Amino acid sequence: MAAHFLFLALLALASSHAIASDPSQLQDFCVADLHSDVFVNGFVCKDPKMAKAEDFFFSGLDKPGDTGNKLGSNVTLVDVNKLAGLNTLGISLARLDFAPYGLNPPHTHPRGTEILVVLEGTLYVGFVTSNPNNQLFSKVLHEGDVFVFPQGLIHFQFNNGKTSTVALAGLSSQNPGVITIANAVFGAKPPISDEVLAKAFQLDKKTVDWLQAQFWTDNNN
Ligand SMILES: *[C@@H]1O[C@H](CO)[C@@H](O)[C@H](O)[C@H]1NC(C)=O
Repeated sequence: MAAHFLFLALLALASSHAIASDPSQLQDFCVADLHSDVFVNGFVCKDPKMAKAEDFFFSGLDKPGDTGNKLGSNVTLVDVNKLAGLNTLGISLARLDFAPYGLNPPHTHPRGTEILVVLEGTLYVGFVTSNPNNQLFSKVLHEGDVFVFPQGLIHFQFNNGKTSTVALAGLSSQNPGVITIANAVFGAKPPISDEVLAKAFQLDKKTVDWLQAQFWTDNNN
């Protein structure tokens, strides 16, 4: 009986951890002390008596990111590193700019779900589910359309139109993180063995070497 109870308690504990995103806060706010030498999960709080309105403020999302790069896109993320008041609050915001035919390439946010709204232009977006199905859910979005990309899944956004596109995205983490698939795989430093990548991607080593020699643009700011 006791063992049964212990098992259930452990199961509840394990599953509550499995569904958790950023941990929930234990006070109104905890403005990040970005310069502290103490390392915790997130950032330590600066003295709450010293908090100012500026700690909860960021200015500049009216300005488009520069899309004059190989991908034709630019993501301006306002996370805890740019807005210290986000610490412990489990949320962040991004502005996405796309030149005509600009691409935000396949990537994942290891720590956050993303909800996106198109403010101007159009976007072809999609995400792919985990193995074994790897099902693609995709859609063409227009002004005012909203799409959600579940936490951790590979997704992309492509401006399939002749005009530039602007979108805003909320993310369910103070620090959602980005892993751009191609950059991480072919641009790893030091490089992943070409034997490994040739086998994994069903390519010959020459093609892998060529890919590894490319410059992999990071469009995240
Ligand atoms: C994105 O835009 C910012 C602001 O204009 C710029 O500083 C940055 O270099 C751009 N990044 C890329 C990869 O183009």
